[in-house]
Amino acid sequence: MRPPAPATLGLLLLPLLMLPGEADKKPTPCQSCRELVDKFHQGMVDTAKKNFGGGNTAWEEKTLSKYESSEVRLLEILERLCGSSDFECNRMLEEHEEQLEAWWLRLKKDYPDLFEWFCVKTLKFCCSPGTYGPDCLACQGGPKRPCSGNGRCSGDGSRQGDGSCQCHMGYKGALCTDCVDGYFSSLRNETHSICTACDESCKTCTGPTNRDCNQCEGGWVLEGDACLDVDECAAETPPCELSQFCKNINGSYYCEECDSTCVGCTGKGPEQCKDCIPGYTKENGQCTDIDECSLEEKACMRKGENCYNTPGSFVCVCPDGFEETEDACVKTEVQGGEESATQAPSHEDL
Ligand SMILES: *[C@@H]1O[C@H](CO)[C@@H](O)[C@H](O)[C@H]1NC(C)=O
Ligand SMILES: *[C@@H]1O[C@H](CO)[C@@H](O)[C@H](O)[C@H]1NC(C)=O
Repeated sequence: MRPPAPATLGLLLLPLLMLPGEADKKPTPCQSCRELVDKFHQGMVDTAKKNFGGGNTAWEEKTLSKYESSEVRLLEILERLCGSSDFECNRMLEEHEEQLEAWWLRLKKDYPDLFEWFCVKTLKFCCSPGTYGPDCLACQGGPKRPCSGNGRCSGDGSRQGDGSCQCHMGYKGALCTDCVDGYFSSLRNETHSICTACDESCKTCTGPTNRDCNQCEGGWVLEGDACLDVDECAAETPPCELSQFCKNINGSYYCEECDSTCVGCTGKGPEQCKDCIPGYTKENGQCTDIDECSLEEKACMRKGENCYNTPGSFVCVCPDGFEETEDACVKTEVQGGEESATQAPSHEDL
């Protein structure tokens, strides 16, 4: 499906238009109002048990019920409502303290939902849940279950947005009742639609198993009536390099480097080598360093020379106090200068 041009344009412009707003992160009036109401509710919780010893004398009960809706309690709630650095909260409280007081003292009984009365009805900063936009119109699919419960209504609960649905994963359509490719409808009646993911082997399907595919996903092939995994590693020309091994997985495969001691391998580690690199040999099924120094055939040819094994190789060194000549290690002449005549000029260079 090709998206219509205006949508493409909108997507391109969106980041540009949003940048200035992102920079200062100023909350919308509705968000500020919602936060204020949340804090007010917390204040009510925090003061609920105040001035109440926990005993249950008649006197205490009477005092409590008086305190419950008292101005004293309101002041206690308002006093601690906004953090000292919360500019938006303090500004809103300053501007609308009287309304909060009126609600607390007189209107609470008739309008028990503070958010609804304060943010929606009185200040008109927000809309009721399930409605959107300047006039608080019903979201797509109705205010009770916007977007069939399968998506988010744009502007839901705010004075913004256009009421359209942004569907959750797996759903599409104006009311988020249709299933996208890779999902099938597992329930559909007048009010509800539920889309469930296909088996991973299906591109599209009518049910949950690999026998319910309409079309196989890439890396899977239809055999009999089911989509089965393709073993890419078993292909006539294997897909990995010679220094790698191939691992088949559902719907795909991967290549991984052989152990450094292998020439070709069938899996991870030195036990899976096909052949070993020079200086290594298979020992107990594993490529192992050859100790050239302990071979019957002498590795170091000069007379008196020491042999040291190294990974994959060996070195031949004359003992301390000896130096190498073509076919033997000979005692170094100590008297008459420590170095030989050929190295003398380099000393003068210094
Ligand atoms: C539709 O399905 C849902 C979910 O199973 C169920 O709760 C609801 O009662 C059904 N509605 C009708 C009209 O059958
Ligand atoms: C591979 O696919 C088959 C068939 O869809 C499935 O039964 C199996 O559990 C899958 N294996 C893994 C490791 O995901």
